[in-house]
Amino acid sequence: MKGLILAGGKGTRLYPLTFTSAKQLIPVANKPVLFRVIEAIREAGVGEIGIVVGDTAEEIRQAVGLGNRWGVDITYIHQDAPLGLAHAVKISRDFLGDDRFVMFLGDNVIQGGISPLIAQFAQSDWNSQIVLTRVQHPERYGVAELSDDGRIVQLVEKPKNPPSDLALVGIYMFDHHVFEAVENIQPSWRGELEITDAIQWLVTAGYRVYPYVHQGWWIDTGKMEDLLEANGLVLEEMQHVVDGYVDRDSQVGHHVTIERGAEIINSVVRGPAAIGRNTRLVNSYVGPYTSIYHEVTITNSEIERSIVLENSRISDIPARIQDSLIGRWVVIERSPMKPKAHKLMLGDYSQVGILNGAA
Ligand code: G1P
Repeated sequence: MKGLILAGGKGTRLYPLTFTSAKQLIPVANKPVLFRVIEAIREAGVGEIGIVVGDTAEEIRQAVGLGNRWGVDITYIHQDAPLGLAHAVKISRDFLGDDRFVMFLGDNVIQGGISPLIAQFAQSDWNSQIVLTRVQHPERYGVAELSDDGRIVQLVEKPKNPPSDLALVGIYMFDHHVFEAVENIQPSWRGELEITDAIQWLVTAGYRVYPYVHQGWWIDTGKMEDLLEANGLVLEEMQHVVDGYVDRDSQVGHHVTIERGAEIINSVVRGPAAIGRNTRLVNSYVGPYTSIYHEVTITNSEIERSIVLENSRISDIPARIQDSLIGRWVVIERSPMKPKAHKLMLGDYSQVGILNGAA
């Protein structure tokens, strides 16, 4: 088996963070989502992994390298334009050869990994297996209709009237017949070669395509709210370790990770939470479901259910920061001088929520 991770795309729903960085590299519980995907594939025993990259190729190469850190071999496959998931499969043909493979969207986080799934597919003679899960808004996804005996009847991409609430999770397994399918489909209304259409083509052509209904959580981290949600879920489940320094005046609760070089001074950290390498908290409060990444300083401030990326600085903020995603090298501080005003320097597409009635 080989692995194929899709890490192209522009991440427009996460502007301005994704102007300068790849959405797959945004950390959830202080680890980039893409690293979690690589680990899930490796845990399933797959060591040859192709990553399809687009505009953010350079940044992804820098972060992932050749895969030595995980003991896997990474091959990069360049996609010139985001022409769809099935297009990504098409251009990966040389890398994949005749091997069976698992394809995983590089911004997806799934509970429990994919080892059981891969084992089932690897031992079968099925041509494809797709992962489904029940969702509240099936119209936002590819949707599957199953027969009473659990076989696939049809698949539709983002249907106005969904035939079921079973969405296609961004994890798919194929054998080489998928190449026949991707050659035979046409671009959809959004101008993309849809993987959903390619799988439907396999079903119609009589190939053996089986579903696997995933029972745990699954999150496609395309938007800020999804990232915060995934962050909370991973923080709840992970093993927590305190490697940094906590002074006697601080209180650090259960389920808190404090990485090497971090310092907690006269502060309170309530778990689940993660404090990254060399980050400093001084006279501050970090509440549940918060991940503060590396080299951040938080002084005289409170923050909860948020993600803060590396090298940012938050100081002397009178109201608690909550439900926020704060990028790299961001400075949030009290305006030192009159006039009494909010003073902002924000990138394009930034979003700021000002507290009602705040001075
Ligand atoms: C893609 C697939 C869709 C699938 C979804 C999972 O959608 O086309 O079938 O349900 O990923 O995240 P997209 O994110 O391209 O809109």
